[in-house]
Amino acid sequence: MVKKFPYNPAIMVRPIVLVSAETARDPAEAEALQRLRWGFDVRTPGEAGATSAAFIVEASVRGLVVLSDRGRVVVPTIAEAVEWIARTRAIDVLRAGGLVAVPTETVYGLGADARNVEAVRRIFAVKGRPSGHPLIVHLGEARAMSEWASEVPELAWRLARRFWPGPLTMILRKDARVPSIVTGGQETVGLRVPSHAIGLAMLREFGGGVAAPSANRFGCVSPTTAQHVRDDLGDEVDFVLDGGPCAVGIESTIVDLSSGDFSILRPGGVTREALEEAIGRPVWPCSTGEVRAPGQLESHYAPRAEVVLARREEVEARARELRARGRRVAVLSLAASTEAAARELYAALREIDRQGYEVVVVSAPEEEGLGAALADRLRKAAGRRNSRP
Ligand code: TXA
Ligand code: MG
Repeated sequence: MVKKFPYNPAIMVRPIVLVSAETARDPAEAEALQRLRWGFDVRTPGEAGATSAAFIVEASVRGLVVLSDRGRVVVPTIAEAVEWIARTRAIDVLRAGGLVAVPTETVYGLGADARNVEAVRRIFAVKGRPSGHPLIVHLGEARAMSEWASEVPELAWRLARRFWPGPLTMILRKDARVPSIVTGGQETVGLRVPSHAIGLAMLREFGGGVAAPSANRFGCVSPTTAQHVRDDLGDEVDFVLDGGPCAVGIESTIVDLSSGDFSILRPGGVTREALEEAIGRPVWPCSTGEVRAPGQLESHYAPRAEVVLARREEVEARARELRARGRRVAVLSLAASTEAAARELYAALREIDRQGYEVVVVSAPEEEGLGAALADRLRKAAGRRNSRP
């Protein structure tokens, strides 16, 4: 648990020393640390909420000083010290060609340096994702679009100004330097600037593009907490940048601008209505769903439990009927606000799996606003059985 440490520059704060878990266990070191505890607050990174190696945090009238092999920074709170440590670690891992779970406002991404072909290859291996299924490149700022796209239409700049940082992915014609493993061999690339404070700060400091699909195993429900990522991928992800639960909870809206036209490939966190307002004309709802993405299967976004869609007034009857056939049935009632329903959906489906239900009966919301994306995910989850042996 990270304690909030209110910073008051007029008060000399109690110095904090973070030690490695090994140091804390060593009897001789432990004795020395015991002495330190008189004047210092001694914690392991785990106790302080950090997961990386030993760092020393001392205090001055200016705040907490974090010392590491990357230099020193002054931060006002323990929470910020821990965040700095974690962000620095995430960047080091990306630069070394490792995989980092990155928090975004939609879902957690499994990220790698988008220019590092070997690192990107590992994303596919760890996810069990078929190659040829393109990845979204995450950027720290809209300006970087011109490094990744060969042409950026005026409309893309306009949508970026209106919706970035945020849950919108734009498909543009790719720059020649984008490795083809990132785009699944296509001539287009998906770009997005996410709005999660910690994830975005990390992207800005990293400076390059981070290729990232959702950080779940292929065909499973996307993760909306750091724990979901650890449950799914365990040690196969080199570092999880914990940014808390995702605020939007379902994936970004994907729009295609690569053909000079405009279409929605996947409904998501930015609503069709908001896009229409920004563009100034009506837009077709996404009917076919991510058709431009090869390998796009109906089986996405599905929990283990069979998902049965029913009209609101028929949910209970349908559940009774399935129970009568001896099946373990959960009823999922979505929150009344579509924002809350989206935020909670994937965690709820995971919980239903954890409790061992075989079937979940749910009623899809009206297809307006965020409801369209929710209904899309529920339909895809329900479609899974049909494609199963
Ligand atoms: O909210 C999100 O979009 C999350 C977070 C991590 O940013 N990412 C995400 O990634 O959902 P993923 O890989 O699970 O889904 C991305 C979708 C895939 O269906 C992929 O085929 C499509 O985007 N996509 C990526 N690049 C594309 C391209 N060049 N053309 C068409 N579709 C593309
Ligand atoms: Mg995904």
